[in-house]
Amino acid sequence: MCGIVGAVAQRNITPILLEGLKRLEYRGYDSCGVALHVDGHLQRSRSTSRVAELQAQVEQTGLAGFTGIAHTRWATHGAPSSANAHPHFSRERIALVHNGIIENHEELRAELSAVGYVFESQTDTEVIAHLVDHLYSGDLFETVQLAVKRLTGAFAIAVFCRDEPHRVVGARQGSPLIVGVGQGENFLASDAMALAGTTDQIIYLEEGDVVDLQLQRVWIVNAGGKQVQREVRTVHAHTGAAELGPYRHYMQKEIFEQPRALGDTLEGINGIMPELFGDKAFGIFKQIDNVLILACGTSYYAGMTAKYWIESIAKIPVNVEIASEYRYRDSVPNPNSLVVTISQSGETADTLAALKHARELGMPHSLTICNVSTSAMVRECALAYITRAGVEVGVASTKAFTTQLAALFLLALTLAQSKGRLSDEQEAEHIKALRHLPVAIAAVLALEPQIIAWAEEFARKENALFLGRGLHYPIALEGALKLKEISYIHAEAYPAGELKHGPLALVTKEMPVVTVAPKDALIEKLKSNMQEVRARGGELYVFADADSRIAPSEGVHVIRLPEHYGMLSPILHTVPLQLLAYHTALARGTDVDKPRNLAKSVTVE
Ligand code: M6R
Repeated sequence: MCGIVGAVAQRNITPILLEGLKRLEYRGYDSCGVALHVDGHLQRSRSTSRVAELQAQVEQTGLAGFTGIAHTRWATHGAPSSANAHPHFSRERIALVHNGIIENHEELRAELSAVGYVFESQTDTEVIAHLVDHLYSGDLFETVQLAVKRLTGAFAIAVFCRDEPHRVVGARQGSPLIVGVGQGENFLASDAMALAGTTDQIIYLEEGDVVDLQLQRVWIVNAGGKQVQREVRTVHAHTGAAELGPYRHYMQKEIFEQPRALGDTLEGINGIMPELFGDKAFGIFKQIDNVLILACGTSYYAGMTAKYWIESIAKIPVNVEIASEYRYRDSVPNPNSLVVTISQSGETADTLAALKHARELGMPHSLTICNVSTSAMVRECALAYITRAGVEVGVASTKAFTTQLAALFLLALTLAQSKGRLSDEQEAEHIKALRHLPVAIAAVLALEPQIIAWAEEFARKENALFLGRGLHYPIALEGALKLKEISYIHAEAYPAGELKHGPLALVTKEMPVVTVAPKDALIEKLKSNMQEVRARGGELYVFADADSRIAPSEGVHVIRLPEHYGMLSPILHTVPLQLLAYHTALARGTDVDKPRNLAKSVTVE
């Protein structure tokens, strides 16, 4: 989603700004731009193409300067176009970039139009540029502090002024913004990763902070206008996208990285202990009597799977809520809940807001399962388990999901142990199964050629149903999400027992029905549901276990996973669904790593 980079230095910062944008590219964007202070003027370059294209434009025009800002935009207000791309200017005096959404932009637009400002874009961002210009009194830092008081919504901004050549001002409220501290130069970015290779001295701005960046000074005031010191941390941010190696797409690479990602996530785990989740975990786990899971998208499906595990193993009730729903509905808070957020990026706006909402309702105990140790989510939660999937570039989440599942299974075991519900034998057995996961996943990956054959047929379809039961219902949901997200085939998932309550009406011989069929306690029930599909001519594509006793026949295609994996089976059964989605998308020729309309990190609500 949108990304910000800004700098004030004594050298040409264009390469730093563009490199920063490249490091943020994986988050998804539809246009980009850069503005610099050049000989007493503002100059900019914008593109509706890739950052590489922007770079070519910049090189052609020789755009260079010591002070400037840059942006990748993911359209919210106004289509992706050059005029809507950031930076936005006001009266050739103010240049501004913005992440987030300004909710009162219409009201401000009317007010500013009435005093003569002319709008060139449909964005809510241009409103802030004109507002800053309108309030400008000769001191940009003071002006921005006044301007942000007029804004409602979630935002992070970076702004500079023609009349103050060695100054960039930033502000955050609801969207992340960090400061990179250098020697005689300072930087701003929406994510520490943007500054990897430039500085590792990072300040995480807090809600309501406004920062004044000059060559020798970083001055921060809080929401109350009081000067504050924020800790400077040494952050070894990832240096961005890894090499593709022999793979065609990052998604394919990330699917095949799962044995390594799971091995790393579980590295060093020889036994269950609360400290795996943080120093305070022992006390908190003893105290809680309920779990509330908050997440979005794929991470939400990880939460749904965890509900089965935690209730079955630890016998603690679990509620799983879609973060964007939870934050706006009336709910009954339980102060003894453990609030668990699940997020690959750790920056998802809805999940962060839902966490804050839960805290405001009086639920102080929070834990995050997150893939980015430097993210807002990790900083906001008392406890954390960092999955070690590594940078996930593909918009479609793959290795992040399976590593989340591994971490959540560990959580289920740890909660069970804290409540005295896990025997030493059970602990040893589960640990053994977890340790074997990388090998088991590698065996599932070897099924790729069979899945490619199915994908050829799926590529010609426009609809698909996914079925699962129990623990594997969330996996069916995840399989359907993967397929629709990257191949644009309409796909829905149902608990198989629900089929006859409505969706069966959709089943014809044109409808492929993907069935997740592990050999668990529900397999015979599932077989009956499969008969219901066959009786209506539906074509079944079944992912069974070696010993499921489901034979291929007319209209029944079967791929067998090598072994049944007990409670951890959802992790194994996810992998063929990822491969099916990937190869179907490949056959349809879609942009697998950057599917249309989607962003990797969803930092607006
Ligand atoms: O970074 P998060 O895990 O918080 O992101 C949540 C969703 O946006 C994300 O899982 C999304 O659904 C994926 N693109 C699905 O593949």
